[in-house]
Amino acid sequence: MSDGRTAPPHTGVEIAGSGSALPEHRLTNAELESLMDTSDEWILQRTGIRERRRHDTSTPYPTSDLGTAALENALDDAGMHAEGLGLVLCATMTPDSPTPAVSCRIAANLGLRTTGAIDLNAACSGFVFAVSTAHAMIASGLYDSIAVVGVDTVTRHCDYSTFGRGAAILFGDGAGAVILKKTNDTAKGMLAQAMHANGNGAKSLYIPCGLDQVEDPESHQAEDGSGVDPRLNDKIQMNGKGVFKFAVSKFPEVIQETLDLAGLTADRVDHYVCHQANARILEAARERFGLPESKLRVNIDRLGNTVAGSCPIVYDELKRESLLEPGQKVMFIAFGAGLTWGASLWQI
Ligand code: UT7
Repeated sequence: MSDGRTAPPHTGVEIAGSGSALPEHRLTNAELESLMDTSDEWILQRTGIRERRRHDTSTPYPTSDLGTAALENALDDAGMHAEGLGLVLCATMTPDSPTPAVSCRIAANLGLRTTGAIDLNAACSGFVFAVSTAHAMIASGLYDSIAVVGVDTVTRHCDYSTFGRGAAILFGDGAGAVILKKTNDTAKGMLAQAMHANGNGAKSLYIPCGLDQVEDPESHQAEDGSGVDPRLNDKIQMNGKGVFKFAVSKFPEVIQETLDLAGLTADRVDHYVCHQANARILEAARERFGLPESKLRVNIDRLGNTVAGSCPIVYDELKRESLLEPGQKVMFIAFGAGLTWGASLWQI
């Protein structure tokens, strides 16, 4: 390919370890029922979610704390010390604060003082974009080892009242991480990838920083006539039906695109590690490609939508359960705010 979407064949890149971290608090559908006008039945039927995790709200840096814990677990799994990392690349759309980058805090928490650290924001697609980017940096010879972290704490931007219920029921907090390393085994690494974005879809899913960023202000006026309803500020806004339609079409499309780039049929992939946004979206994709349930793990019932955390958490669950074998093919797939969508296909 001339556009660089397929990996150069001469360098092997392995996923040497994985880890994840979740807050302890389980925000169940029953707890949501006590906060807003909703029901376990409504949430379960429309999304497949039973509970999600919520960070300790007294913690000032929940995103970097969770990201650090996930990366520590990934380093343990890889049998490595943090000093061995060439770069920390963190995908997140919910940094603790606009600056410094979450990756800088994670690196500092691990005792690193000079290692490069970068954040990448592609919302729910963040981890997928980051893992492809890190692969390119290793395959090109720039680095021998990169930690890729996917972490979000979107519950900080949820309105847990009936007013905000449309989006609030979906999201949970969580982090996952992988360690990518150069290897002499050239069979290992990324086989193909796709990254897409359409910023015209920004208003479908966004967090306004100030009421002047609220889209379509006329239809969001406060009842007292004072202007845009202040309850929208800093809270996640979603056109659920619009995002659903977008996801149902783009999810299978990007899977097919990536399979085509790699010259593979769907049955040749062993695990589809998918962003967990809605159980119905996952089921539609599974049926479309005729995949057995064992190839497309669904954990949204337990964790909700953890944004950039979802793909690496799924991968780590498969690893912990010894379901990943050397030589298998794993496709990471995600879609989300931006709008963004993408996939990264690996031989592990
Ligand atoms: O990472 C990407 C993130 N986002 C997504 O993937 C979201 C994709 N979209 C979805 O998953 C679905 O659109 C939702 C699950 C968010 C919503 O399902 P829906 O079938 O599209 O419902 P809706 O928003 O059209 O609302 C239907 C009804 C409305 O009532 P009326 O107008 O029919 O009387 C809503 O007010 O359900 C009501 N409703 C709720 N009822 C109980 C909306 N949210 C809730 C709620 N509990 N939490």
